[in-house]
Amino acid sequence: MCGIVGYIGSREAYPIIIEGLKRLEYRGYDSAGIALFDGKDLKIAKTKGKVSDLEACVEKETSKTGNVGMGHTRWATHGVPNDVNSHPHASNSGDLAIIHNGIIENYDALKKELTSRGYTFKSDTDTEVLINLIEDVKKKENVKLGKAVQIALNQVIGAYAIAVYDKNKPEEVVIARLGSPLAVGIGEDEFFIASDASPFIEYTKNAIYLEDEEMAIIRLGKAIKIRKIKDDSLVDPYIQELQINLEQIEKGGYDHFMLKEIHEQPRAIRDTYRGRLLRDEAIIKMAGVEDNMKKFLNADRIIIVACGTSWHAGLVAEYIFEEFARIPVEVEYASEFRYRNPIITEKDVLIAISQSGETADTLAAIKLAKSKGAFVFGVCNVVGSSIARETHAGAYTHAGPEIGVASTKAFTTQITVLTLIALRLARAKGTMSSSDFRLHLHELELIPQKVEQLLQVDQHVKEIAKEYLLSTNCLYLGRGYNFPVALEGALKLKEISYIHAEGYPAAEMKHGPIALIDDRMPVIVIAPSKGHYEKVVSNIQEIKSRKGKIIAVVTEGDTAVRDIADHVIEIPDSEEAFSPLLTTIPLQLLSYHIAVMRNCNVDQPRNLAKSVTVE
Ligand code: G6P
Repeated sequence: MCGIVGYIGSREAYPIIIEGLKRLEYRGYDSAGIALFDGKDLKIAKTKGKVSDLEACVEKETSKTGNVGMGHTRWATHGVPNDVNSHPHASNSGDLAIIHNGIIENYDALKKELTSRGYTFKSDTDTEVLINLIEDVKKKENVKLGKAVQIALNQVIGAYAIAVYDKNKPEEVVIARLGSPLAVGIGEDEFFIASDASPFIEYTKNAIYLEDEEMAIIRLGKAIKIRKIKDDSLVDPYIQELQINLEQIEKGGYDHFMLKEIHEQPRAIRDTYRGRLLRDEAIIKMAGVEDNMKKFLNADRIIIVACGTSWHAGLVAEYIFEEFARIPVEVEYASEFRYRNPIITEKDVLIAISQSGETADTLAAIKLAKSKGAFVFGVCNVVGSSIARETHAGAYTHAGPEIGVASTKAFTTQITVLTLIALRLARAKGTMSSSDFRLHLHELELIPQKVEQLLQVDQHVKEIAKEYLLSTNCLYLGRGYNFPVALEGALKLKEISYIHAEGYPAAEMKHGPIALIDDRMPVIVIAPSKGHYEKVVSNIQEIKSRKGKIIAVVTEGDTAVRDIADHVIEIPDSEEAFSPLLTTIPLQLLSYHIAVMRNCNVDQPRNLAKSVTVE
């Protein structure tokens, strides 16, 4: 996690770096820092807190001048978030400075070694160890900065995206990556460095994404040179044209990114199936699936790996794949899968789901599955991300940039992509009749307008939120396709409002959670008319008999639940399998409003980060 921004050129670096850090704050926001070369010296300012705190700190303590600089927004791994542990870190001589995203796992051994040779450390970070290791190599081997970085990185175990600067060589920055993303924006006589392209999209559309184990020396007036860290071999730089624009990463009149992203869902879902769902021709066209159809059809099973909200989308997909395409599916937390010596064969298809395409555990699970010969398919939102590149094939969600840390439109678009795949496979396998297939295409195409209609419940949900903003616990229940939605609803609430919330399959309530129910316990029950409706109504009765407060999500026109529940939120009717795309919307809004009323930082909840590039 952590966000990195660097600039080298002829513009003032300060505003570019500060604005860039603000755009990267989703990656971590417990401390921030900046180093600027003012023509004579390297000025470092850093502080605990957000980028806005850094601005105040620079205002007080140092200058904003310089055409070369780098900045960092941190999500602490080693060392608590405080001023000293913030990046950039300088070497003992003060000549070198570094910003780092990742973890140096063998930092302790390296630190002991460096300490024994007289190096001292101000911070508790692994990063300060790395910059002194680089300085040590540079002096001992009498090599230039680029070489010193390379030698040092070959001694390091862990993950990193780094930018290193030597104040005696002001026109040069050395960058490297292993496991954490790093992009270089190429302008005319200027370079931008960042964890993703958002800090530089208004300056250039040309970018190079560094691959793992690559480093680059960026010098003003020279073409960028990329080398393999291990063997020093040169790599041809691949310059990509960026597709995102500034508007997509701004709030567009909404109070929070999360709210904007909730409201973007009709458009996002439409963009996800656009060009893929061809209703008139009654086909689904997805190149990544088509080109690998044999692999899918011969698969003994599909293993889905993901983390967080993406894992919940995977759970919904399990129901859909098994129902439509009759292929056995297993859904795994990537972090568990990668460490439990799983049985993987060449006949397995692994689908990795990730909004950011950078989640360290998901990436590791992919590498493991590939090493065992499985076919690996990615479902990512961020174009060109590590997971998109590491997988054999894939399908993008096309949700557009998601900036709110709590995932919303990524979830619904992931479900949409996975539904398209399941439908395509169902046709190929003959597990769905052509009339059912047509019906499903038609129904899926109706979802965006139903979401649009559903978003009008906003005010009603806000009123409900007022009654529960002081709750300390909350239960979410759903069955079948809507069990994962219950998990996702609970995750949204705890992520952004810090209210303890649990999601459960409704019938499991009897096996434990029912003990928690009393008149102060709100229970959100997802009870659409299709899919175990009567059973869920019985569960609602059981909650009512124990005086629990019931907020029910029901299909419009429902009367049975209305009589028992304290509040109902109506959703439009739909195919049972598509109901998660609707039921999840009011739950997103409920969490959002409760969090806003509790004065929580909705877009940047405490302790979280959007892109988890450490395991
Ligand atoms: C973090 C984010 C979640 C996200 C999860 C997986 O925890 O805060 O919103 O669901 O990572 O991220 P991915 O990018 O792989 O979907």
